[in-house]
Amino acid sequence: MSNILVTFFSASGVTKKVAKEIASVEKADLFEIIPEVPYTEQDLDWKDKNSRSTVEMNDLNCRPAISSKKADIEKYDTIFIGFPIWWGREPSIIDTFLDSYDFSGKKIIPFCTSGGSGIGDTSKRIKEIVGNSADVDSGKRLGGNISEKDLELWTNGFHINDASKHIDEETMKKLIAFQQAELDGVVTYQTLEKLTDDEKLKEVFKKTAADEGRHASILKSYTGAVLTPSSETANKLAQTLKAIGMPALLETISKVEYDGYDLYRPYADKFPLLVDIMADEHKHGNIMSDEASRLKEKN
Ligand SMILES: Cc1cc2nc3c(=O)[nH]c(=O)nc-3n(C[C@H](O)[C@H](O)[C@H](O)COP(=O)(O)O)c2cc1C
Repeated sequence: MSNILVTFFSASGVTKKVAKEIASVEKADLFEIIPEVPYTEQDLDWKDKNSRSTVEMNDLNCRPAISSKKADIEKYDTIFIGFPIWWGREPSIIDTFLDSYDFSGKKIIPFCTSGGSGIGDTSKRIKEIVGNSADVDSGKRLGGNISEKDLELWTNGFHINDASKHIDEETMKKLIAFQQAELDGVVTYQTLEKLTDDEKLKEVFKKTAADEGRHASILKSYTGAVLTPSSETANKLAQTLKAIGMPALLETISKVEYDGYDLYRPYADKFPLLVDIMADEHKHGNIMSDEASRLKEKN
C-alpha cells in the first residue's frame, strides 16, 4: 500500500483527470471528495450572484457536506489535495475536508486547475485551517493537459519517492556530478555567446544555455542538491577558443555533447527524465557540428 494519497474535488472533471495522473505517477491511492448535494450547472454559474457556488464562496465559514466515506488519512504521510479554483481560492467543500481530519505531521501538497488564475494564497488558507503541525507546500496550478513528464518533474521535487528509488551513494555522486556539469554548461554557453559576433551562433549558444539549465533542474529533482555554478570550464574553453578558433572548438564541443548521451544512458531506466537530457545531448552534438561546418564555409 502506498503512503501517498491524492485527494480531490472536481465539479466538471478537469481536476479529476489531473488527480488520476498524479496518482498514477506517484503510485498513490486516490480519494474523491464528493458533495452530499451534487453541484448542478446552475449551482456553478459564477455570473449569477445568487447561485449556490457564489453564495457559498462569499461565506468563508461555509462548509458544504461531503458524502464520500471517510478517508483513511492516518495511513498516509503525504497528501495531495486537488481542486478547481473558484473565485481565486479553494472551493468551500475543500475546507470541509480539511476540517474533518487531523493532519498533524503530514505533508500536504495542494494543486489546482483553473481557467487561468494561479493558486494564489490558497496554501496560506489551507495552513490556517489545518494548523501549524502539518507541512503545507505552496502548491501549484497545473494545466488540465499537463504531460506525465512535467507532472513527474514537479512531484520529484518533493522527494517523496526517494526511499523507493534507493539512490545508492555511487549513483548519487554521479547524478550530482552530472548536475554540476550541466550547471557549468549554462555559464560556458553564456560565455561563448558573448565571445562570438555571429548572430546565428549567438542564438544557438543562448538556446543551448537554456537547455543546460533545464537539465540541471531535472537532475536537481532527483538529487535535491543545491549547487553553485563554476566558471572553470567556461574559462578553459575561452582559452581554447583563442588557440584553435571557433569552428574547431565547436567540433570539440560536439563530441563532448555526443559523449554525454552515452554517459547518461546507463541511468535512464531508473531515472526516466534523463531520456529528455539524452535527446538534447544528441541534438546539441548535431547543432554544434553543423555550426562548425557553416563557419568554415563562411570563412
Ligand atoms: C464557481 C466557479 C468559479 C470559478 N472561479 C474561477 C477563478 O476565479 N479563476 C479561474 O481561473 N477559474 C475559475 N473557474 C474555472 C475553474 O477553476 C476551471 O474551469 C477548473 O479547471 C474546473 O475544474 P473541475 O473540472 O475539476 O471542476 C471557476 C469555475 C467555477 C464553476
